[in-house]
Amino acid sequence: MRSQHILRRVVIAWLAVVVTTAAASPRAPGTAAIASAHPRATAAGQEILDAGGNAFDAAVAVSAALAVAEPYSSGLGGGGFWLLHLAKSQRDVFVDAREVAPGAARPDMYLDANGGVRADATLDGPLAAGIPGHPAGLVHLARRYGRLPLARSLAPAIRLAEEGVPAHVRLTTGLRFRRAAAAKSPAFSAVFYPNGEIPAPGAVIRNPDLGRTLRSLAARGFDGFYRGETAAMLVDGVRSGGGIWTLADLAAYRVIERQPLRSRFREMTIVSAPLPSAGGIALANMFNMLAGYDLGKLDGVSRKHLLVEVMRRAYRDRALFLGDPAFSSPPVERLTSAYYAEGQRASIRLDRATPSAALPGAPSDAGQGSDTTHFSIIDRDGNRVAGTLSINTWYGAAFIPPGTGVILNNEMDDFTVKAGAANWFELVGGDANAIAPGKRMLSSMSPTFLESPRGVAIVGTPGGSRIITMVMLAALEWIDGADASRMVGLKRFHHQFLPDLVDYEEGALTKDEIAALEQRGHSLRLNQRSYGNMNVVTWDFATGKVEAATDPRGLVEGQIY
Ligand code: GLY
Repeated sequence: MRSQHILRRVVIAWLAVVVTTAAASPRAPGTAAIASAHPRATAAGQEILDAGGNAFDAAVAVSAALAVAEPYSSGLGGGGFWLLHLAKSQRDVFVDAREVAPGAARPDMYLDANGGVRADATLDGPLAAGIPGHPAGLVHLARRYGRLPLARSLAPAIRLAEEGVPAHVRLTTGLRFRRAAAAKSPAFSAVFYPNGEIPAPGAVIRNPDLGRTLRSLAARGFDGFYRGETAAMLVDGVRSGGGIWTLADLAAYRVIERQPLRSRFREMTIVSAPLPSAGGIALANMFNMLAGYDLGKLDGVSRKHLLVEVMRRAYRDRALFLGDPAFSSPPVERLTSAYYAEGQRASIRLDRATPSAALPGAPSDAGQGSDTTHFSIIDRDGNRVAGTLSINTWYGAAFIPPGTGVILNNEMDDFTVKAGAANWFELVGGDANAIAPGKRMLSSMSPTFLESPRGVAIVGTPGGSRIITMVMLAALEWIDGADASRMVGLKRFHHQFLPDLVDYEEGALTKDEIAALEQRGHSLRLNQRSYGNMNVVTWDFATGKVEAATDPRGLVEGQIY
């Protein structure tokens, strides 16, 4: 027991690089910190900061290193969002490198002749993959915001791919889970099931093809992935596996810069993800509803009941209204207004759960899981990055186009493939999130900055549909004075409208709270897996202290080495 505790402490220090000194000014902490889900990725970011890079160069290094060291969560075959704070101009920018549907995609492409959803078609193999945005995002970050050449910031990841990374428990657990799907991809199997076996913990996993793809990106930027030899190998591999990508789809991919979505709760400003993520809208809406209550005056059960009720309502709107804004016009202004929240509050009873069926919405069934990654960075000048990256579920589509080393995403599952049919995360949706060529699938990824007179916090986590409520619970803790370690360690509960369940982690609710919530009409479900892997960096203006903390769940489920 004791040695486990010591091991955890050591690993926490290993995962998060923190330097603490210096007097603070509101603009520059004079110190830097990185929190990521893998020590090699954190070290890659630190190497780039030491080489004179800024937070944006470090973000390129961390993102690319995670693609190698955490191949089950994110990678060049996926996409993601980077929320940036530019200290010099005090400007926030949201870099959207979300995947897009291929040009040949159709709304009914995953349905069978009877209109049913074809089992696993949105999850396994290249038909499940959107056109990746991650490599374009790296190029964009380096060229527009970095100080160092792209090739320098990619060097640590290239080394990791070529020299290899030791297998750890999370990695091998994911391989067990994806074995059947991966059997259809010889290139995937060659890297991850050497001799047909799941690697033993500590066995070194090399992916030289991925090293070569990273070298191509480093040398030729966008064209090194989206055009030429790499693009041809990607398209050949995808099409021979039953997918529909074309060279034109790859060449047409574009990163989009967007305005982050800003909202307020008490003295806290929440800067978060705009569409095509539901994160910023849902956070704004939940905090607007909460603004009508004095949370400090509520007893513990009533507070949790109220949080569940605001989650329920925000996720109902996610299902009904949200999707890529280039394809429909979700009513963002209305959903994030105080007036709208006031109306929603009128339907909340503190003594009684509102059944989701009593709110106009859509039906659902079930499924489970999560994977994605998040990292947080601040540099000595006060530049910040919150990056949340994904290939969707564990190992994405479990398919590597031969010669590329690139694991394809299965992000097409984030579209609504049929009205009312639940996806992997049990989310339902409507027309706003229907499949269309070139469209970005709705996301829950929510890289977020919290700002107040106290300081700033850089927050985010994987966890699929649960991401938004995890960020919301962490923000509530921070505004009440919590430090970074407390935010990441917090026990979590979640409601997403449908299924009409309070999903909770062991320890999030006491026996008495469970009984009291049931008494108020809630159905509860203990989640058998702890969920999330939050990485937080905080900067306290008064003390100048910069702290980084990584989620203890990353250790419980995936002891490193
Ligand atoms: N693939 C999970 C998300 O973007 O929400």
